[in-house]
Amino acid sequence: MPVLVVVGLQWGDEGKGRVIHTLARRAYAVARYQGGNNAGHTLVLGNNEVLALHLIPSGIVYPNVRCYIGNGVVVDPKALYEEIGHLAKRGVRIGRRLGLSPLCHVILPYHLSLERYLGEGSRLGTTQRGIGPSYRDKIARLGLRVLDYLNTPRFQERVMANVRELLAPFARPSEIRSIERETFETQKKLAPFLKRLLADVSIEITDALSRGRRVLLESAQGTFLDVDFGTYPYVTSSNPVAGYAPCGVGIGPKIDAVLGVAKLFTTRVGEGPFPTEIHGALASQIRETGLEYGATTGRPRRIGHLDLTMIRKACRLNGVTHLALTKLDTLAGLASLKVCVGYSWRGKIFKDFPDDPEILAKANPVYKELPGFSGDLTSVKRWSDLPGAAKRLVDETAAFAGVSPAIVSLGRKADNQIVLDAGFAREWLTGG
Ligand code: IMO
Ligand code: MG
Repeated sequence: MPVLVVVGLQWGDEGKGRVIHTLARRAYAVARYQGGNNAGHTLVLGNNEVLALHLIPSGIVYPNVRCYIGNGVVVDPKALYEEIGHLAKRGVRIGRRLGLSPLCHVILPYHLSLERYLGEGSRLGTTQRGIGPSYRDKIARLGLRVLDYLNTPRFQERVMANVRELLAPFARPSEIRSIERETFETQKKLAPFLKRLLADVSIEITDALSRGRRVLLESAQGTFLDVDFGTYPYVTSSNPVAGYAPCGVGIGPKIDAVLGVAKLFTTRVGEGPFPTEIHGALASQIRETGLEYGATTGRPRRIGHLDLTMIRKACRLNGVTHLALTKLDTLAGLASLKVCVGYSWRGKIFKDFPDDPEILAKANPVYKELPGFSGDLTSVKRWSDLPGAAKRLVDETAAFAGVSPAIVSLGRKADNQIVLDAGFAREWLTGG
């Protein structure tokens, strides 16, 4: 019963979508287990068309792959409807291939309003998709789930109670009424659409696994946006770490492999500490070469040196068994590369990425300098054809993390990659 979790090891945008794109061809199903439409997973298809997915798993581009949105995900029905419509326009037909758990909490217009009123967008730099307020309601036991969305009287009663209580400190009664109206109108229109997608995700995945089928669990965001392990409070409101994956789809904690995806430099969108951040010409060069703009919000991503202490810590937190290292090509042309191997603070050296935000803010990264490399790497297919300095960067990263690399990606398309681990390739990429 092979289950592979694909998880981001940094602050999101590591290239999870493109990695899943290469793996999903051989999978029976791909399931999202947390987050919502704050995610932006960019796939570049064979014809160079770019597809950005937000809620729908990256396996959807293959007509034989079943996709699931598990109970751990928060779902904005309107965003899901629009994403399916957008995919249809691009020729990707969902048919009956998408299964939505009735246990997902929904994101409603009042969540979007609350996020605005609370100023989370500017304070934390959130994606403003209502993610935090929806998870907050879930934990506070006020939330509405997909199954409530399908029961109109119950839905209306609970929405009215929530809206009146939660928005009262911020909104005028007329505003509250108009949010209610919008919520009910949308629900009326979209309830039948959601109903058609319903699936018992737990039963279906368990059944697939018992037949020996391959299932991928696709994380959104990344380890350092995890609400427990990330740079709190500058985090998202869910647990991207691999340990949450089985919970977020309703299966027991049995995972066969964890593929940790890390970019060979660091980016972050939104506020929060970023010790290896760089500014100026070098940051712009990497941003422009790597097209480092948010797939969800279009914001320019903050750029920094590769932080090996983050990757090593993330490998531990996720139980990573294999690494996928992405965007090696973006670094071509830089004279030298700095990688962070520790932190110094008050005469002490920290080998682990610090948890305490004050230490993170004040500590100095300790860098190791590696030689740069040049040339267009996107068409390289074999490890032996890579420049020595590029191989060294990959080797140093893997050695520091203590995990061997299975995939190194060198471009935006699924086949712009080198597969280094034959066993992994047999199991997940080429096997029958
Ligand atoms: P993918 O799946 C990068 C960031 C936001 C903000 C913080 C909280 O594409 O890797 P939220 O809206 O989740 O409450 O915002 O998390 N963030 C991401 N950053 N990639 C993502 O997803 C992100 N999803 C949320 O920018 O800093
Ligand atoms: Mg993204």
